[in-house]
Amino acid sequence: MLFASAVLATPALATPAFAIPAALLPSSLVWPSAAVAYVHYLSFMLCFGALVLERRLIRADIDRKDATLMVITDVVYGIAALGLLLSGIARVLHFGQGTSFYTENPLFWWKVGTYLAVGGLSLYPTITYILWAIPLRKGQLPQVSEALAQRLRWILNIELVGFAAIPFLATLMARGVGLGL
Ligand code: HEM
Repeated sequence: MLFASAVLATPALATPAFAIPAALLPSSLVWPSAAVAYVHYLSFMLCFGALVLERRLIRADIDRKDATLMVITDVVYGIAALGLLLSGIARVLHFGQGTSFYTENPLFWWKVGTYLAVGGLSLYPTITYILWAIPLRKGQLPQVSEALAQRLRWILNIELVGFAAIPFLATLMARGVGLGL
């Protein structure tokens, strides 16, 4: 309590962009905050893992088992991407260091922009896999040309680079880099 008052009495730290150290979170928020942070990390791992698996599986002569696995993996990817977004928004609004700590930081908007760009890019593979589900249900193999497999490989590569870059932006953002404090 003494520490909290001392921190808040320090003008540089009492600005709206001031970061609330986890130790100062009201005790009722500790578990929800930890749970939301966990969902954020777990969703990130699932997204990344799903992309790596899709990248490993994609090929022109794909068999039924792997094509089905690709479709299921992409569903997991979609759900995890939604979990990432929702937990991220929850952290900005309720469990983070104060909304303005993020919205005033260009690195936050780079992070959100990269997430949206990767999400936009993933529409093409997702629509492709949804279309695969039609022949797969009839017991047929989807038509995957070498050109399509190559295109999907490239898109997955770019998505993986995007997903690897976001945590870097996140770690800087979480430490106030970009706020000019
Ligand atoms: C629009 C989507 C997203 C929003 C709104 C968002 C928001 C946030 C917020 C508020 C934090 C807390 C930072 C702090 O401790 O002060 C955070 C942390 C983090 N986010 Fe996100 N995030 C999003 C997407 C992502 C994505 C796609 C990834 C990974 C690919 C990611 C990875 C991380 C990591 C690794 C941290 C921990 C940073 C650290 O504590 O050093 N986030 N995010």
